[in-house]
Amino acid sequence: MADLRPIGVFDSGLGGLTVVKALRNILPNESIVYFGDTARVPYGNKSQELIQEYSREITHFLIKNDAKLIVVACNTASALALNELQSNTSIPVIGVIDPGADEAVKATNNNNIGIIGTVATISSKAYEIALIRINKDIQTISHACPLLVPLAEEGWLAGDVVNAIVKHYISPLNDKKIDTLILGCTHYPLLKDVISKQVSNGTVLIDSAAAVARAIKVKLLEINQLNNCNELGTLSCFVTDIPMRFELVGQRFLGAPMDHVQTVHEI
Ligand code: DGL
Repeated sequence: MADLRPIGVFDSGLGGLTVVKALRNILPNESIVYFGDTARVPYGNKSQELIQEYSREITHFLIKNDAKLIVVACNTASALALNELQSNTSIPVIGVIDPGADEAVKATNNNNIGIIGTVATISSKAYEIALIRINKDIQTISHACPLLVPLAEEGWLAGDVVNAIVKHYISPLNDKKIDTLILGCTHYPLLKDVISKQVSNGTVLIDSAAAVARAIKVKLLEINQLNNCNELGTLSCFVTDIPMRFELVGQRFLGAPMDHVQTVHEI
């Protein structure tokens, strides 16, 4: 049976389009409704109460738009609001933390895993909790990297300034001999090249976008809601504001042109 209803994906802004890109690679037939809260981004320096309130509103919006499953593509919202959403939502809600942590535990050889993310994600210790739950011998070291989101948004993906900032954030992690680094933020995959230059040789970078896409496929199979028709799925995007250079930034995250974008004034 083909379940034609869309997958609902949300993020604080456009960064979650990296998850949409991974989803479209692995599940090309699935239609996607994407919600980017561009008027209220960033979430990374907001309180848990506010992040939970915004996440609840967006989840309702996606359910009203017929979503069969919700993906919290935002690491910050996954870290601070996922449990609450899962307890109060009738359809499955999947976040990015557990799939990313799973992937990291599989990748590490020396059990030393580094995590980078927004201030809110790092303060929540959500990745640490998920990693230890999988393997209690894992040692973690984490670092908030607040400047990396604006750099990625501005398209500053290389050069001396970016190298210096990334080096500043990554050096303490290298000192702890990590062999695996979780890119715990939607925006960091765009900075993968510069990050990989700054980590010690052989450190594996974990981009949770691909891991979460695989977890969604497994979930849809399990609940018998996969769309296995032969047609390519559609992508509809909703945002709360059209920011400057919206298309340029969006395309960079999605790796394809963004069409069918609608502005939502009231959620
Ligand atoms: N989407 C957020 C995350 O993955 C980054 C941007 C923000 O701070 O809202 O944590």
